[in-house]
Parts: sequence; structure tokens; C-alpha cells
Amino acid sequence: MRISKRTVASKKLRDGMVLAEPIYDIDGKMLFSEGLRLNAKRIERILRLELMSVMVEESVYDEPIVNDDMVFETHSVKSIIEEKQAIRKQQLLNETRNEAAVMVEDLFTHVLEDGSVKTEKIKRIVERLIEAILYDDQVVLNLSNLSTIDDYLLSHSVNVCIFSLVVGIYLGFSQPRLMKLGTGALIHDIGKILVSQNILTKPGPLTDDEFEEIKQHTIYGHKILRDTLKYGDESAAIPLYHHERIDGLGYPEQKKGHEIPLFAKIVCVADVFDAMTTDKVYSDKVTYYQAINYLIKQVNTQFDEDIVKKFITIIGFYPIGLPVKLSTGDIGQVISTNKKKPVVKVLLDANGNRLNNYYEIDLYKNPSISVIDVDVQKPA
Ligand SMILES: [Fe+2]
Repeated sequence: MRISKRTVASKKLRDGMVLAEPIYDIDGKMLFSEGLRLNAKRIERILRLELMSVMVEESVYDEPIVNDDMVFETHSVKSIIEEKQAIRKQQLLNETRNEAAVMVEDLFTHVLEDGSVKTEKIKRIVERLIEAILYDDQVVLNLSNLSTIDDYLLSHSVNVCIFSLVVGIYLGFSQPRLMKLGTGALIHDIGKILVSQNILTKPGPLTDDEFEEIKQHTIYGHKILRDTLKYGDESAAIPLYHHERIDGLGYPEQKKGHEIPLFAKIVCVADVFDAMTTDKVYSDKVTYYQAINYLIKQVNTQFDEDIVKKFITIIGFYPIGLPVKLSTGDIGQVISTNKKKPVVKVLLDANGNRLNNYYEIDLYKNPSISVIDVDVQKPA
């Protein structure tokens, strides 16, 4: 038996569990050390920190238990290992994503009252998101995992940061440029803390005055990045210009095409894509296909052509996690792509019945089968 680590949602912590990693506060001060055994009092203190999850120790048996009638096939063992590795990568990313959301929430709550906000924490989070993307961008872009954070503004901030960084990486940006892009993208909407909550969450149409107030979040955000957090022009321009449009019909300064800084144009595409594909109080989400088609239709009016092309190349027409219906009638989910064709894990038959034996099919190797519909109801 050996000791391994696993993530546990804070709400599911129990007496006797042992911390596998230390817990730090927002300033990087250690609050709980690694190896600490939890009791009711400690769990209560951890819950007060409002962490989404923590790492605890877990006993793992190394020796496989083999029955006489058990047959191992090299292929299936390999795919089980690969699947477990993929799950672990996804867990690591979700932890980073959740930590980023907690950090953004803390920043949004305290940035105005606390002049000594630590930009060091933002730097660490952006660095970790870059690392996670470089480690496996397919895992990062798994669309079925983008909604792991409940609060819209927080999950939107983290998703926009990830989408923007992926575009930046594919554009060949250096690490310092990625840091500037990721920082501005993560807090591009921070100016909304100065806009009335009633307006931000109003379900119906906005009056002209209310829309004018919403527009101010770009200017407020710019001031916070420049004056409070002391970021340079490249990062600070992101909140200011992320609602500008190529045709000059955006806000706040009606800048056109080349007048809009590149970082703001990248964040603009990421912002619109994530906003369209997420449910909000004032609008229902659209499908990934509809969002991608919208981006294409608005090239050179709203969005920069090169950035949209790059974005779609990266996201792909068959993003991981996309539910699809095949020409056989079967329904499944995209798990990877092979030469731009999807590899689908089939979960339901043509009648909607769950299959006892799931199977994977590579449509590049099976050209007679095609995808006939996408964004179909996701198999539960
Ligand atoms: Fe915005």
C-alpha cells in the first residue's frame, strides 16, 4: 500500500482525513500544514476560507487483484491508464480554474478597500494557467468542463483568460507577453464592481441610461488596472477596449480596426464566445456551432479576421466534450480529434437507450460514418 493524493470538495471533508498539501491564505501565508489530520474544528476553519477543494491523502493498493477468470488485454489496460491520466489532468486544471475563481472573487471584493492588494497572487495564477495550457491544450479546451464554477462573472473571467491565453500561445507570444495578456484577460470585467448589481443582473432590456452605466465598466476597469494595481498600458488597455469593434461601433471610444490594441481584440473574441455559450440571467446560451458561426459572420465588422480564424482553428469544429449524433443514429461525445475528424465515444443507441458496452469510433478511420447533428442533448 502507498499514499497518494486526491482532491476533495471542501464540503465533503471528514474527520480523520489528512491534508496532502498545505493550505495558504490569499497573501501566501500557510494556514494548515501538509500531513495535518483533520477534526471538526479544523474542517470548520477550512470551510470558512471558502476554498472549493483541498488535497487529502489516500491509501492506494499497488497490487492488482487478479481472479482466474479475469482476462487482461493490453489495449484495454492501456486505454484505462490513458483515461485515468486524462481525468487527473482535468482534475489538476479544474483545481487551477477553481483557485483562479477564488482569487478573482477575493480581488473583486477587496481591490477598492485594500490598497495593498497582492498582484503577486494574480501573477502566480496566470503562470499556472499558462502551464496547464502548455501541458495539454486539448484538456484545457474540453468544453464540457468549462462550467465548473457557479458564479457567472467568476467563471467567465477564468474562461476568457484561458481562451485568450490559448490564442496568445498559438500566435507565438513570449512568456512576458502571455503574462500581460492573461492578467488583463482574467480581470477584464473588474470595472463591473462599480456598476450597480441591479443593472448587471436585470433580466429584461436595459434603458439607455442603464446601458450607459454598463459601458462605464470599461473605463472603471482601466483605472483599477492602471492606478490601483499599477499595471502597464498593455494589460490596462484590455478592460478599456475589449468592447470596441472593428467597424468602430463599439465602446467607449468607438475605435476602429488597427486602432484597437491586439490584446483587446483577442479578449473581445474570447469574451463574446464564452458569453454566448453560457446561460446568464438576461439571455439563454446558444450552441457552440451557433457561436462559432456568429464569430465567422461578424468578421471585419465586429471581430478581427486573423484572430477569429486562429480561435476557430484552436477550438475546432469538433471540440472535446461536444455531444454529437452520428449517421448511424447513435449518440456520443467527442473525446479527441484525428486529422480534423472527431473520435467519438458512443454512449446511446439510435433509440436513446444507454449502451451496455460503450465504444469509441474514429471517423477518420471510418469515413462511411459521419456526424449528422451536433450539440444534441448531452448523454447523462
Ligand atoms: Fe465587459
